[in-house]
Amino acid sequence: MKFFVDTAEINAIKEFAATSLLDGVTTNPTLIMKSGGTHEDVIAEICQLVGARPVSAEVISTDIEPMFNEGKQLAGIASNVVVKVPLTWNGLRVCENLSREGIPVNVTLCFNANQALLAAKAGAAYISPFIGRLDDIGLDGIDLISDIREIYDNYGFTTQLLAASVRSPHHVTQCALAGADVATVPPSVLRKLCDHPLTDIGLASFLADAARARPA
Ligand code: G3P
Repeated sequence: MKFFVDTAEINAIKEFAATSLLDGVTTNPTLIMKSGGTHEDVIAEICQLVGARPVSAEVISTDIEPMFNEGKQLAGIASNVVVKVPLTWNGLRVCENLSREGIPVNVTLCFNANQALLAAKAGAAYISPFIGRLDDIGLDGIDLISDIREIYDNYGFTTQLLAASVRSPHHVTQCALAGADVATVPPSVLRKLCDHPLTDIGLASFLADAARARPA
């Protein structure tokens, strides 16, 4: 499973971009707003930091023509931009049109399997089901990941299943078990993936024993 970092914070992206564990970046208008920068500048800086790895940049237009033009503009920032469009009929039309021009599209705000099926048929490079937001309303976001995996496999769709709204290390494990292609994870959760108290205790004990074993 690939790891994308879900943030527009430049310092966090720098931290992860230095490792081969990072496979890409996703942003959205809320994350861009939190970064304090302007959309195009922030996306350009992120694209430069991560080399060839994909960076999702979201449109804010909702009508077909303005959304398409905005998508083209975002795609023009760098060759690794993936244009993110909402899962609406207009978004699906724009997904089709941008994909036909060779621009990869991430269809976002997916909350059910039919939406994911439509996005795949529209040629999406990525589908982004929001698992945490489904959990928030008492549903099980991971069930959606499993359903989409099964449907995509049934028909051989190549759209990558990108689990979003990932809130915990447990979510990450569940995404991997359910066959997500990608999990996009906030920096705070990404950092926690390496942690286990028994690892810390074990390391402290090995280091203490190594010090004791040294010749005086
Ligand atoms: O990738 C989508 C993500 O940013 C939304 O996460 O936690 O706001 O539901 P959240």
